[in-house]
Amino acid sequence: MVIMELRDLHKDFSGLKVLFGINLLLQKGEKHAIIGPNGAGKSTIFNLITGKYTPSQGKVFFKGKDITGYLPNEITRMGLARSFQITNIFRTMTVFENVRNAVLSKNNARLDVFSRLSKMNGIVEETERILSQIDLLERKNEMAGELAHGHQRAMEIGLTIATDPELILLDEPTAGMSTEETKEAIKLIERVSTGRTLVIVEHDMEVVFSLAHRITVIYYGQVLASGPPEEIRNDQRVKDAYLGEEKE
Ligand SMILES: Nc1ncnc2c1ncn2[C@@H]1O[C@H](COP(=O)(O)OP(=O)(O)OP(=O)(O)O)[C@@H](O)[C@H]1O
Ligand SMILES: [Mg+2]
Repeated sequence: MVIMELRDLHKDFSGLKVLFGINLLLQKGEKHAIIGPNGAGKSTIFNLITGKYTPSQGKVFFKGKDITGYLPNEITRMGLARSFQITNIFRTMTVFENVRNAVLSKNNARLDVFSRLSKMNGIVEETERILSQIDLLERKNEMAGELAHGHQRAMEIGLTIATDPELILLDEPTAGMSTEETKEAIKLIERVSTGRTLVIVEHDMEVVFSLAHRITVIYYGQVLASGPPEEIRNDQRVKDAYLGEEKE
């Protein structure tokens, strides 16, 4: 079943053409990686999906509905959440407060959940459930800004799942992480994306090839290739443009 479709998306910023006709079908439950060089247009695709920007041409469908031109909060309410390439946590609040705020925002946004979690202890429980999923329960009273970088990124993922989305978009969740932190992050992403659909923009090929069912390569605002990992790994155009030849 298709959960999202990008149909002929174009974007230009006051004359600068950034995307030239992006087409993408995303199956429900799929883990999809978007890769490509810096400036290729990957984050712009996310910004079009989430309603931050409106496409110059083309459409975005989510769960069969044309959501082109919808506001970001309307799209979030439909079950789509994203993390940002740049961390957007509140540094002077505790880890617990950061996640609780995200849980509260879901309650404001979605009445069905509000009635279920109307009691404050429901909110606390939900917050702690998310904290344990992202392995930060023991650090819940620490100031978010004082967490190690890897833990901050984990918290960012916690904020993303606080709205219990069906589709998660993660923009470079392992950026700046050590090898060890990256390994933990892969496990975390697998855990939080179980039962959901995931689109991840990622430069680390180890992360991409260990997580993704399908990979789309964006090159100068166009889809260069899209398919299962093995097909992408062996695609000559992708090797030439992006992956480079691997030495045997
Ligand atoms: N709001 C904006 N106004 C003007 N130009 C923009 C805007 N957002 C993105 N761009 C331009 O669009 C192009 C694609 O940017 P985008 O951030 O989508 O690339 P990216 O593939 O995510 O790159 P990176 O891997 O470095 O994150 C770049 O040339 C960028 O400067
Ligand atoms: Mg980007």
